[in-house]
Amino acid sequence: MNPLPGLGVCTVAEWPALLAALDETFVTERGRSGSLAIRFPAALGQPHLADLRVVRDGAAIVSCCATRRFDWHTPAQSWRGAMIGMVWTRPGARGRGHAAQVLDFTLQALDADGVDFAVLWSSLPHFYARLGWQRHDRGVLGVSAGTTATATRVDAAFDPTLLEQLRATHEPLRVLRTADAWQARPLPAAHTRLLADETGAAYALLGEQDDTRYVYEVVGEPGCFPALWARISAGAGRVYVNDSLGSPFHRWLVTHTATRFNAQSLAHWWPLSHRGRAAHWRGWHIPWFDRI
Ligand SMILES: CC(C)(COP(=O)(O)OP(=O)(O)OC[C@H]1O[C@@H](n2cnc3c(N)ncnc32)[C@H](O)[C@@H]1OP(=O)(O)O)[C@@H](O)C(=O)NCCC(=O)NCCS
Repeated sequence: MNPLPGLGVCTVAEWPALLAALDETFVTERGRSGSLAIRFPAALGQPHLADLRVVRDGAAIVSCCATRRFDWHTPAQSWRGAMIGMVWTRPGARGRGHAAQVLDFTLQALDADGVDFAVLWSSLPHFYARLGWQRHDRGVLGVSAGTTATATRVDAAFDPTLLEQLRATHEPLRVLRTADAWQARPLPAAHTRLLADETGAAYALLGEQDDTRYVYEVVGEPGCFPALWARISAGAGRVYVNDSLGSPFHRWLVTHTATRFNAQSLAHWWPLSHRGRAAHWRGWHIPWFDRI
């Protein structure tokens, strides 16, 4: 494929300045901290620059988007997915079609490479709908007050092998996580915590910012949910829960707690391959923790 003039991939020399610009837009201007390279090591730590596509005006990068490829596991088969994030145009160059162009270039490249589907999360639905993305989200966001119970500060050690065993047993649909992927620190939390049930039959993965907790996932035996929830909410001012409609933990929270849930509408999909277009992707949900 011969891209149009100005379209290409980010070079090693260009990456530090581009990262600084992305950090400014997506982190600093939003009142957050922690570089995207640290928060999303799988996609932006030592980025696979071929997956960081850009538009240049002369020598200067004016627009870009990042791609994180992943394997999506379903009981019947595995799929090649690509998440798109950090869609960005330099402030002075906005409104000239650069973002649309870099997204189109990216989709063409992913399609040529045999990727089954692309997915992104955005609160600009009109922009993406106009380009042809299909908005469909099974996500729910819950909010709950914390409790005044004393929080136990002991976190579990990250043992990806054990965690993957629990995911394999309890999550029939899942993103296959690399070691890097387990190091993610999604926005806006300052750090990620892992709480493990003492039986080892379930865990909770959450982010924390001051006294606010952001639950990314609770996976394992439902019998462990009450004790894990007690630890998640102990000492918290507020607890946000990211989950998928009808998951075991979502159902448990709805039945046993006062957590108030709202449907999310951030996910936008673009089925690429023939089998991707025929897939039941409307039943899929990519957890918050895996996203870029
Ligand atoms: C969103 C963004 C990438 C668009 O880049 P761009 O090169 O100007 O995009 P295009 O020229 O292809 O399309 C412009 C369209 O984007 C839409 N758009 C851009 N920013 C928008 C916003 N904040 N709210 C609503 N729509 C917006 C408009 O529909 C605009 O259409 P118009 O020209 O008819 O008004 C750019 O505004 C940006 O970098 N914003 C900050 C980072 C960000 O929010 N990224 C998106 C994360 S999902």
